[in-house]
Amino acid sequence: MSEIGKDIIKAKQLLEKGNLVAIPTETVYGLAGNALNPTAVVKIFTVKNRPQFDPLIVHVSNLDQAKNFVESIPEKATKLAELFWPGPLTLLLKKKPIIPDLVTAGMDTVGIRCPDHALTQSLLQSLPFPLAAPSANPFGYVSPTQPSHVNDQLGNLIDYILDGGACKVGIESTIVGFENEEAIVFRLGGLSIEAIEREIGDVTIQLNSSSNPKAPGQLKSHYAPQKKMVIGNLPNLIKKYYAAKVGILAFSRNMDGIEPEHQIILSKSQNMEEAAQRLFSALRELDKKEIEIILAEWVPEIGLGKAINDRLNRAAAH
Ligand code: TXA
Ligand code: MG
Repeated sequence: MSEIGKDIIKAKQLLEKGNLVAIPTETVYGLAGNALNPTAVVKIFTVKNRPQFDPLIVHVSNLDQAKNFVESIPEKATKLAELFWPGPLTLLLKKKPIIPDLVTAGMDTVGIRCPDHALTQSLLQSLPFPLAAPSANPFGYVSPTQPSHVNDQLGNLIDYILDGGACKVGIESTIVGFENEEAIVFRLGGLSIEAIEREIGDVTIQLNSSSNPKAPGQLKSHYAPQKKMVIGNLPNLIKKYYAAKVGILAFSRNMDGIEPEHQIILSKSQNMEEAAQRLFSALRELDKKEIEIILAEWVPEIGLGKAINDRLNRAAAH
């Protein structure tokens, strides 16, 4: 079990020694280490059991700090950073040599993000280096949105979990890269496509897959619970799996004929922000219940709904 607390000085001291600390962000908890220290970065890959072809996001406290680590910033990237940082947006920018190749898996771009969480902001401002941090879960599993989620799986492997409560966005950052100054979205996430397009016009969306070298982490199966998961029309699925012990992940209302304790509703009021915020805890909770299969339904493709459906799709792609 790892120590869980709100002690920023302790977190800072551990990070300065090259150790790892789980940090809260508005999206999900991150497994953080000194991004400029290759030994710390190797520890991140080891603890997560993450393949080294999958690059890490580097967390900074603001746009000015980001400029120390990138060669140049396209105009649209500057606009997005000015509008949405701190927030659930990662920008892929041409890296300076000071960022170790290990962090970017040898690519010439680095993912940079400025997280919107008071504790982690204070921590970043107190450190003389940025923090490399993937989501604090074993590779392929559901991302953690509470300290206890981190402790459940990585508690024995890290020294300290900085407790910032439950993450308020609940799904990972939206990842945006640039080609010839044009924006390409490589991962749907906590900042909606609508919000981005309102500011910089149409963007290209290029998700998937293991064969896409620009986003090697966008594997078909990811964010996945251990239990089998099937997505579709819930009443039909309930009929089809009548002989199994099922758990339900519903968007806004309970299903008839299934015990209420085996059902989780994402948002009774059909609020996409609330649904996103609850998604990963719901998957973890269902994974722990005495059921055999998780039956889920798609949510409307509005705002964060697209990112929620992306996560559901990968969670079910065993
Ligand atoms: O919200 C988030 O982004 C969270 C919190 C902790 O900040 N972090 C997170 O990290 O989700 P991770 O490692 O679980 O996912 C990062 C994704 C991976 O799919 C990786 O392939 C992609 O970002 N990525 C990172 N750097 C990249 C780069 N230079 N080019 C393309 N994809 C990159
Ligand atoms: Mg992850």
